[in-house]
Amino acid sequence: MAFSRSPFLLLPALLVLFLSFSISCASSRLHSTRIPGGRGEDGLVIWRRFLAENSSSVELSNSSFILAAERTDRKDPLDGYKHYTGGWNISNKHYWASVGFTAVPLFALALVWFVGFGFVLLLICCCYCCCRRRSYSYSRTAYALSLILLILFTCAAIIGCIVLYTGQGKFHSSTSNTLDYVVGQANITVDNLRNFSESLAAAKKISVDQVLLPADMRGKIDAIQTKLNSSANDLASKTKDNSRKIQRVLDIVRLDLIIVAAVMLLLAFLGFLFSILGLQFLVSILVIAGWILVAGTFILCGVFLLLHNVVADTCVAMNDWVDHPHAHTALDDILPCVDSATANESLYRGREVTYQLVNVVNQVINNISNIDFPPAAKPLYYNQSGPLMPPLCNPYTADLSNRTCTAGEVSLNNASQVWRGYICQAAVVSGSEICTTTGRVTPSIYNQMAAAVRVSQGIYLYGPFLADLEDCTFVRQTFTEIYSNHCPGLELRSKWIYIGLVMVSTAVMLSLIFWVIYARERRHRKYNKQFIHSGQPPLPLQDKGP
Ligand SMILES: *[C@@H]1O[C@H](CO)[C@@H](O)[C@H](O)[C@H]1NC(C)=O
Ligand SMILES: *[C@@H]1O[C@H](CO)[C@@H](O)[C@H](O)[C@H]1NC(C)=O
Ligand SMILES: *[C@@H]1O[C@H](CO)[C@@H](O)[C@H](O)[C@H]1NC(C)=O
Ligand SMILES: *[C@@H]1O[C@H](CO)[C@@H](O)[C@H](O)[C@H]1NC(C)=O
Ligand SMILES: *[C@@H]1O[C@H](CO)[C@@H](O)[C@H](O)[C@H]1NC(C)=O
Ligand SMILES: *[C@@H]1O[C@H](CO)[C@@H](O)[C@H](O)[C@H]1NC(C)=O
Ligand SMILES: *[C@@H]1O[C@H](CO)[C@@H](O)[C@H](O)[C@H]1NC(C)=O
Ligand SMILES: *[C@@H]1O[C@H](CO)[C@@H](O)[C@H](O)[C@H]1NC(C)=O
Ligand SMILES: *[C@@H]1O[C@H](CO)[C@@H](O)[C@H](O)[C@H]1NC(C)=O
Ligand SMILES: *[C@@H]1O[C@H](CO)[C@@H](O)[C@H](O)[C@H]1NC(C)=O
Ligand SMILES: *[C@@H]1O[C@H](CO)[C@@H](O)[C@H](O)[C@H]1NC(C)=O
Repeated sequence: MAFSRSPFLLLPALLVLFLSFSISCASSRLHSTRIPGGRGEDGLVIWRRFLAENSSSVELSNSSFILAAERTDRKDPLDGYKHYTGGWNISNKHYWASVGFTAVPLFALALVWFVGFGFVLLLICCCYCCCRRRSYSYSRTAYALSLILLILFTCAAIIGCIVLYTGQGKFHSSTSNTLDYVVGQANITVDNLRNFSESLAAAKKISVDQVLLPADMRGKIDAIQTKLNSSANDLASKTKDNSRKIQRVLDIVRLDLIIVAAVMLLLAFLGFLFSILGLQFLVSILVIAGWILVAGTFILCGVFLLLHNVVADTCVAMNDWVDHPHAHTALDDILPCVDSATANESLYRGREVTYQLVNVVNQVINNISNIDFPPAAKPLYYNQSGPLMPPLCNPYTADLSNRTCTAGEVSLNNASQVWRGYICQAAVVSGSEICTTTGRVTPSIYNQMAAAVRVSQGIYLYGPFLADLEDCTFVRQTFTEIYSNHCPGLELRSKWIYIGLVMVSTAVMLSLIFWVIYARERRHRKYNKQFIHSGQPPLPLQDKGP
């Protein structure tokens, strides 16, 4: 159904977009592309600067615009380390590869650490097994220095854990706020669509002195109502589904980061404690655990750096899109703003209904209320008399463009109030109401007219909302709001997490090295003290392991 590409679905699309830069996808997307072997975007027409000046013109609607071109200009390892020029495009594997490439130093560090320290551990093991006979040189400075550095790095690890913990809390609240904002916008849209649909339903039932809307108009209302209903329901259910999914992902990320912070804190603390107390066996176990955990944390750092870059790219892309909503961009795949047919249809139906309703009321005023019929003209005659009622101002012309009121017409705002002065007192004579005092309308006709005015005004007031949907002002506002109010926070906080992770992994890595060094120095010191106390020559020490 063509309707599934309507602008009414822009908000679920937004949510999808938001989901796409949520953590879980960040790494898996690196390997997934919708189009297999998609290397063929070289032929794309790039209109960059040209469009910047010509963006408002309609004829450009089928050209392409590169979003966040400068920010996303990175080396693409999938394309021989050439510069990637496709811009922000989450369905392009080259984009993900080039963003992922920014995190390569961290992944490389993880690998170097894993292999390097593993090698060192192996060497230490070998030493303990093979070369047992060693004389220990003990230096007070080396001992003190290793202790000081150990304390320093343990403190750094603790600070890193605190940064990580607070960072994740703030990241979680700012992603949740952004999500709430988007869901709130979706809720407003759903409410408006439902209310508009209800107003149209009410318009269908309006009759003033037995004059109804034309039959074809009522048929059109039914048709547009079905569409409005289905898109409102669609939007509501997608918003609900997606926001629940995103919230779940965010909760998982939060939990993971808390676990990482807690485990690393515990590791740093226990490692410090055990090596101070000289519990060699426990220290060796922690060294092995820490070796693997540090490698894992470095990889997590890389993932967060990637995420941070994608968030920042997306923010810039949104801002670029705001400036060029009619150019074809990568955002259109998930935000089909260009297809505004349904919003346009709703807008014009709304105008048509307003126009027709005002016509109905004016027909009654001009052809019935304001004419002094003889009593013989029974259905039309109800003893109307007195000054003539002013007709209602129609806000639209017959071709549904804006119209200004002429003198002597009352506006939709004022009509009910002004007409109140033309009500007569009525008595029921043989089944129909007849005025017994001067007046142009009986109370029941007045009520019908007031109802018609209320409904037309209701529909009229949805005009700007529908026009916003049609020309994407609505999405532009949402993006502008996200760009200026939510993006700085998101970027800052994802950076915090990334910095926290770097601090934690580096500090734990270094303190891990110093557990080993300090433990060694401590053994040497102990051994030397024993030697000094007993006054015996130093003997080869029997070690129990690292
Ligand atoms: C729009 O593009 C045309 C080329 O088709 C160019 O001549 C014109 O200067 C551009 N408009 C502006 C405002 O720069
Ligand atoms: C739009 O697309 C049509 C057909 O693909 C092409 O003939 C036309 O030149 C394009 N317009 C612009 C402004 O790129
Ligand atoms: C959006 O609407 C749903 C259902 O009507 C409601 O549960 C939710 O709290 C609303 N969210 C916001 C942010 O208004
Ligand atoms: C929709 O209508 C309901 C009740 O008629 C009202 O409470 C609500 O504020 C309206 N929503 C919007 C967005 O106009
Ligand atoms: C709109 O959809 C709801 C269910 O989601 C249904 O109850 C209602 O009857 C529908 N209204 C119209 C006019 O189709
Ligand atoms: C985004 O990437 C996909 C896959 O490579 C490509 O088909 C599409 O044309 C790109 N979109 C834009 C606007 O460059
Ligand atoms: C919207 O629809 C009206 C009539 O239904 C048509 O005249 C107008 O060109 C359309 N506008 C757009 C932008 O599609
Ligand atoms: C009411 O009067 C208008 C002219 O003011 C005329 O075009 C229309 O046909 C009349 N309608 C009825 C129902 O008499
Ligand atoms: C018609 O009026 C509305 C509000 O009164 C305004 O927003 C809109 O721009 C006007 N349209 C035209 C074509 O003047
Ligand atoms: C509404 O009526 C009052 C007088 O009753 C008048 O002053 C005011 O300008 C009218 N407002 C509009 C929008 O026509
Ligand atoms: C018709 O209205 C006039 C006042 O304009 C009143 O005097 C007269 O009694 C009314 N006729 C009937 C039959 O009620």
